[in-house]
Amino acid sequence: MSAVTIQPLADLPPTLRALVEAAHAATRTAHAPYSRFHVGAALLFADGSQHSGANFENVSYGLSLCAETVAIAAASAAGRLKDMVAIAIAADGELAAAVTGEFIAPCGRCRQVLAEAVGICGHDIDVLMLSRDGLRVRSTTARALLPLAFGL
Ligand code: THU
Repeated sequence: MSAVTIQPLADLPPTLRALVEAAHAATRTAHAPYSRFHVGAALLFADGSQHSGANFENVSYGLSLCAETVAIAAASAAGRLKDMVAIAIAADGELAAAVTGEFIAPCGRCRQVLAEAVGICGHDIDVLMLSRDGLRVRSTTARALLPLAFGL
């Protein structure tokens, strides 16, 4: 099986479709007055529950936190990270349209954060990325996103 698949959002199993929709809904909670690029992330846990987050920017731009990192850190603080099985990422459609790249993708730092989550979970994590037009989903895994990851 390929490490990356692309399929219509409508074809996803209901649980994963709901996860992507939760990530898209979370874009509305972004604090992104500087980039005006609203990103949402939603985590799926083994029991079917979800936890979402959004990017949280800072006036000192480099201190901004990505949606994936916010969601993962919140799940860790709630003691739930070990049961994470998937993450969905979405960007606000209107603003995302102006940005290069068809699918929202985790930045390099978030890939290393995901690698940390994989270490805590003890298994790989599915990563679902919504297209700019909101119609298709690109799927892969955290390990595939960061080959030869740094680790101690
Ligand atoms: N951003 C995320 O939230 N996740 C990513 O993986 C890529 C970038 C945010 C950071 C910043 O607030 C805005 O998108 C523009 O880079």
